[in-house]
Amino acid sequence: MPDNSSSKKVLVIHGPNLNMLGRREPEIYGHQSLDEINAGLLSLGEKLGLEIETFQSNHEGEIVEWIQEAVGSCDGILINPAAYTHTSIAIRDALSLLDIPVVEIHLSNIYKREPFRHKSLIAGIAAARISGFGARGYLLGLEGLANLID
Ligand code: DQA
Repeated sequence: MPDNSSSKKVLVIHGPNLNMLGRREPEIYGHQSLDEINAGLLSLGEKLGLEIETFQSNHEGEIVEWIQEAVGSCDGILINPAAYTHTSIAIRDALSLLDIPVVEIHLSNIYKREPFRHKSLIAGIAAARISGFGARGYLLGLEGLANLID
């Protein structure tokens, strides 16, 4: 077992309706469940020497609270804010509290979809963004985030 006592910590946040992945519009979001995506992230995290904590919520305020708790205890954030991407000033403000890199992930290519999805309130404070690679985007994002952290 690797000694994680001094390893860097990444918080992975999944927004609303992502608990339904696998069953939710698979032609857009793919067939992998959230548990499968999280398992892939944990396994890649181990290879990269990162401690990974995952969290999903359908509630904006709960996501804000998780982000606030990351202040001072986390080295990077990987977030798919889902529908809150397009609406939540509160999540953006919470992320702005953090002095650590934030990577924004979307399974689908939001720019190829309805115009209301083209705007991201998170984009202006994200270090990097990945959109359109499906579940693989999370792994690409974690790899990129690992480089931003060290
Ligand atoms: C999403 C895109 C959002 O527009 C949508 O509301 C989601 C998922 C994506 O991963 O492609 O729930 O963030």
